[in-house]
Amino acid sequence: MPAAEVNTKEQSSKKLQQSNPDYDPNIVVEAQNLSKIYHDFWGRQKVRALKALDLEVRKGEVFGLLGPNGSGKSTTIKLLLGLLFPTSGRALVFGKDASEVTKNEKIGYLPEESYLYRFLTAEETLDFYGRLFDMPAKVRKERAAELIEKVGLTWAKRRQLREYSKGMVRRIGLAQALINDPELILLDEPTSGLDPLGTREMKDMIIELKEQGKTVVMCSHLLADVQDVCDRIAILYQGELKELGRVDSLLKVSDETQVRFDNVPESAHAEIRAVIEKHGGNIISMENPKTTLEELFLSIVRESSERPGHRSDRAAN
Ligand SMILES: Nc1ncnc2c1ncn2[C@@H]1O[C@H](COP(=O)(O)OP(=O)(O)OP(=O)(O)O)[C@@H](O)[C@H]1O
Ligand SMILES: [Mg+2]
Repeated sequence: MPAAEVNTKEQSSKKLQQSNPDYDPNIVVEAQNLSKIYHDFWGRQKVRALKALDLEVRKGEVFGLLGPNGSGKSTTIKLLLGLLFPTSGRALVFGKDASEVTKNEKIGYLPEESYLYRFLTAEETLDFYGRLFDMPAKVRKERAAELIEKVGLTWAKRRQLREYSKGMVRRIGLAQALINDPELILLDEPTSGLDPLGTREMKDMIIELKEQGKTVVMCSHLLADVQDVCDRIAILYQGELKELGRVDSLLKVSDETQVRFDNVPESAHAEIRAVIEKHGGNIISMENPKTTLEELFLSIVRESSERPGHRSDRAAN
């Protein structure tokens, strides 16, 4: 490598180190000893909502914050957005302090409660948020149409949001969160108010975002939703971190083995049992697997739209 090139490379990496010596571009979100105490009107200590949280979210992962009501999930998300200031500790996003506003250009946020203007239509809403990001009119229009289609609201795009159902508001909320094509998306209870079909679509959209290389942090107390989409989770309880890890390893039952097979006659079951017992194993169950209620509901909805008037006869089997 020529000497001049080595020099410029060294200089630029030095520069980066000087601006933030610890910045690792693979770590999108970092909470260091992050704590939040809410005070009442007179400044008296009221609620310790978050207690010394330490965690990292890596680029390209879907990270779930789980916990019962009031465990500090929304507080954590608001601290990452810089909407709240920590009582102690630090929240870093893209290596910058969460209070630095420039980082917000690369963030999308779906809040717990809708704050959208009720008298705007879906198209106007997205146009409004596009303007906030200084997007040119042509780009705003294209992006709005694309997102409205993606969240399944094309049929209602000219209706005012005050006429929308809860699930429709949630969908346009997600579209709004994605208007600036963000790198990091923070979703506070993304599936709340959605029917099972909407929930599945929301989960598919989250997986699609991950496939595009985006980083997603979502919080929920709906365990099935988190299990389906998250790579790693943190479980909070009364503001304290209780568990942190990969979903698949947290849920793995290491001392059991599950085998599924088809087209084996019932008569072979005794032989299978004998082999397992010969090896000292203990058969816990051997039965037809059950589908989930979600799968059943979705297949009925799909069939109903394909064959109107036809009634499902699954229960008769
Ligand atoms: N603005 C506020 N003022 C005072 N206390 C607050 C405020 N916001 C939240 N809290 C308290 O902080 C704690 C954590 O609340 P937070 O909203 O972060 O919980 P959550 O995990 O998001 O709950 P949920 O599942 O109900 O949305 C709760 O005890 C709550 O009462
Ligand atoms: Mg909340």
